[in-house]
Amino acid sequence: MTDYSTNATTPGALDVVIMAAGKGTRMKSKLPKVLHRLAGRALLQHVVDTAAELAARQVVVISGHGAAEVELALKAGSSTAAGLAIDFVRQEPQLGTGHAVQQAVPVLRDDGIVVVLSGDVPLIRSDTLRQLIAACGGNALALLTIEFADPAGYGRIVRDGEAVRAIVEQKDATPQQRAITEVYSGIMAAPARQLKAWLARLDNRNAQGEYYLTDVVKFAVAEGMAVVAHRISDALQVAGVNSPLQLAELERAYQMRTAVQLMEQGVRLADPARLDVRGDLQCGQDVSIDVNCVFEGQVRLGDGVTIGANCVISNATIGTAAVIHPFTHIEGGKAGSKDSVEVGAGALIGPFARLRPGAKLGEQVHIGNFVEVKNSTLAKGAKANHLAYLGDATVGERVNYGAGSITANYDGAFKHRTVIEADVHIGSNCVLVAPVTIGAGGTVGGGSTITKDTPPGALSVARGKQVSIADWKRPAK
Ligand code: UD1
Ligand code: CA
Repeated sequence: MTDYSTNATTPGALDVVIMAAGKGTRMKSKLPKVLHRLAGRALLQHVVDTAAELAARQVVVISGHGAAEVELALKAGSSTAAGLAIDFVRQEPQLGTGHAVQQAVPVLRDDGIVVVLSGDVPLIRSDTLRQLIAACGGNALALLTIEFADPAGYGRIVRDGEAVRAIVEQKDATPQQRAITEVYSGIMAAPARQLKAWLARLDNRNAQGEYYLTDVVKFAVAEGMAVVAHRISDALQVAGVNSPLQLAELERAYQMRTAVQLMEQGVRLADPARLDVRGDLQCGQDVSIDVNCVFEGQVRLGDGVTIGANCVISNATIGTAAVIHPFTHIEGGKAGSKDSVEVGAGALIGPFARLRPGAKLGEQVHIGNFVEVKNSTLAKGAKANHLAYLGDATVGERVNYGAGSITANYDGAFKHRTVIEADVHIGSNCVLVAPVTIGAGGTVGGGSTITKDTPPGALSVARGKQVSIADWKRPAK
């Protein structure tokens, strides 16, 4: 991570201004546009996280539509951006991009470089911004530009020879200017002192009656300041979100990049187009992932892990060579907390298993179909293979937990613990009424409702005794 406050080639601290006041009419949503999610994070959060990667001294978020909601969402924030100083300013009403950045002027210091970003352009990369900041160098105005075969709607980069003279908006452009294919991306870097002075001079005498941020270019040119266009070719980095279709397109592009990165590390994906990573997925060697899997939060897959088709896995650590069979749902709580899910080496999970917050499974544990585990520890080699519930339980090594058995952990007010010691065999359809302890090596007969602790080594049965009535005649009409 580069800290521009100490970088010799780019003097001055870095301050980031993020425009996020626009309404996003075409999203047709009650949610402010910048709070719509891409890869599980709000669009605006992506931009803030990128500012954090740049070690920005200050981040100013300009909100307008849904301002309170936007501010609240960012304060809840992500871990990446923790510790970042965010200032919120409001732009009401919204009179253009220049007017938006004017709202930030009172909180911006004079000695820095200001980078202007948009809250709805989520995939701009920090290394691109570092290059743009280097191009600014504290004494030039640097514009991020790109060549588009169809430049309609964008501000055009007007040059005189090589030198950039102005940005002209589509609606103000002459036919000749509209033919220009180099466009302004909406992202610039400028020395703060000059930028503030230029902003004070903006007017709205143009086709849209707006205060255009892009008009600062002509002020810089008039003052003889260098204006540099830093041109990139990666359209994804400057792609904005205006509609649900564009959001979905960006999501797919983002996911494809993630898939390609994983495959470059050796992960085998059955289909890179059918993977969704909404967080951070770390994989060991020889991991293979079948189609339609979703990973959320922090997920770590150890060497040789196999994930079957249609699994949803959140905040979990899966040990070496464990197999997660199809349709398994793992919903760990926050990574690193007691609620995260752990699956031990060589474990077999699913199909159709559900691991809820706080499921901690040891090595070679087997959890089969329609088994739910919540806030429970299962030691090495324990098995619950069919149709069962383990909640608030501590299960010892090699325990076999029968089909249809449950821990009755909730009395309507409080949760209680069930302890099943090592080598216990719980038959089918048992109810273990917590708090209760099943002693080591014990056996519980099928169909038992156990309400008292059982001694080690014993067979415990708690159900009506079987009776047979000879020659029973069924009622007849
Ligand atoms: C702007 C640029 C254009 C560039 C394009 C790239 C101007 C005048 N034009 O055009 O040269 O090619 O971006 O996408 O800057 N916003 C506010 N307050 C406002 C207006 C906008 O916060 O009053 C925010 C929007 O929410 C959005 C960003 O600024 O995040 C850009 O606004 P938008 O209307 O998309 O800019 P364009 O007119 O498309
Ligand atoms: Ca616009």
